[in-house]
Amino acid sequence: MDFEVVLSNKRKIGSGTFGRVYRVDVFKRAGGRSLGRYALKVLNDDLDPEPRFMKRVHSHPNVVAFVKKFRRRGHLNILYELMEDGDLLKFIRRHWSPTAENGLGIYTEAFAFQMFRGLAYLSAQRVLHLDIKPENLLVSRARGTLKITDFGCARMCRGRWKSHSVGTVLFNPPELLMTTTRCRSSADVWSGAVVLTEMVLKEPVFASHVRGHRMQLRNIQKVLGPWTKKDCAQMGVNYNTPPLKRKSPKQRKRTLIKIFQNVPSHNNAALLDLLTQMLQYQQDLRPHPWKVMAHPFFDRVLNRASELPNGWPLSESLVSFSNEERRDARRLGFAIPVQRRRLRAVVAKAKQVAEKKEKAKASR
Ligand SMILES: Nc1ncnc2c1ncn2[C@@H]1O[C@H](COP(=O)(O)OP(=O)(O)O)[C@@H](O)[C@H]1O
Ligand SMILES: [Mg+2]
Repeated sequence: MDFEVVLSNKRKIGSGTFGRVYRVDVFKRAGGRSLGRYALKVLNDDLDPEPRFMKRVHSHPNVVAFVKKFRRRGHLNILYELMEDGDLLKFIRRHWSPTAENGLGIYTEAFAFQMFRGLAYLSAQRVLHLDIKPENLLVSRARGTLKITDFGCARMCRGRWKSHSVGTVLFNPPELLMTTTRCRSSADVWSGAVVLTEMVLKEPVFASHVRGHRMQLRNIQKVLGPWTKKDCAQMGVNYNTPPLKRKSPKQRKRTLIKIFQNVPSHNNAALLDLLTQMLQYQQDLRPHPWKVMAHPFFDRVLNRASELPNGWPLSESLVSFSNEERRDARRLGFAIPVQRRRLRAVVAKAKQVAEKKEKAKASR
């Protein structure tokens, strides 16, 4: 978009490690036509990699839209589309309920599906986000949409390089907590899985009151058990000089099954199966985002009859894949998730037909 930026009505809506974010009204020029409301991110540091990555990953429905970059009062400013409902953490704090299915009702599946669709796109662009967490996922309640933002920790995925924990420890995969030489896009899949657990439980699954890498590794071990020599080889970390005891802590085991078995869910077995697949020590065993999207846990997202609580049809806006996405899935050997016919209607019709047949039989 090419225009002079004149800002008014600036209101702070967020701040983090890398900058401050404001909601602003943008005008074409002073006294000119209003171009609408946007989010303005003022970066603290010129070396922030975000502008570089936004140029690379700007055109996907599940990545926040980049509008313009400019310099103002000595700071680098980026204009983004505004997501009125803010980030997923705020959404969870406002709308999570212990009795709702999967914590947020259908929003859990809709948001998780779009997060993994966004991750499939980033993976195709060879971009590692490395800071996937609810604060960096923007949502709209009315439309049920989700967009990934904040590329302040992002890196290109290439070759072997030493990488360590960069984002928030709670969402970091074990290989990053132990400094790995094998960082893959499966690191973001792990973080995505932890975000899913937070939507379901209100707290991320490996949370504890004490923070830090060692404590986080212990929390992971408490649920997944100790890692093996093979796990370490696959994770690209040294088994002989681990940063902490390899033995699992002695406390009572909180396995994934124990944690999730009583969660109110329309499809609890699917939720558990999906989480078990994604939360694995060996990165290569974690499913690709395309495979995640095809998991039965997302059946309701792919069902045309599904609606948000406000009656907005869910799947039409979420499952229209571009040709680029279709090519990427095909190249990797994954099937594109397809919307099914109005399932409820189809099942009801089949029932009607069966009943008619029964009646006809009985009357004969
Ligand atoms: N486009 C946007 N629309 C609405 N809120 C936003 C937008 N971008 C950022 N925010 C809010 O600002 C917060 C900080 O933004 P973020 O880009 O994550 O900055 P930081 O790098 O400082 O963490 C987010 O958690 C979110 O609440
Ligand atoms: Mg952030």
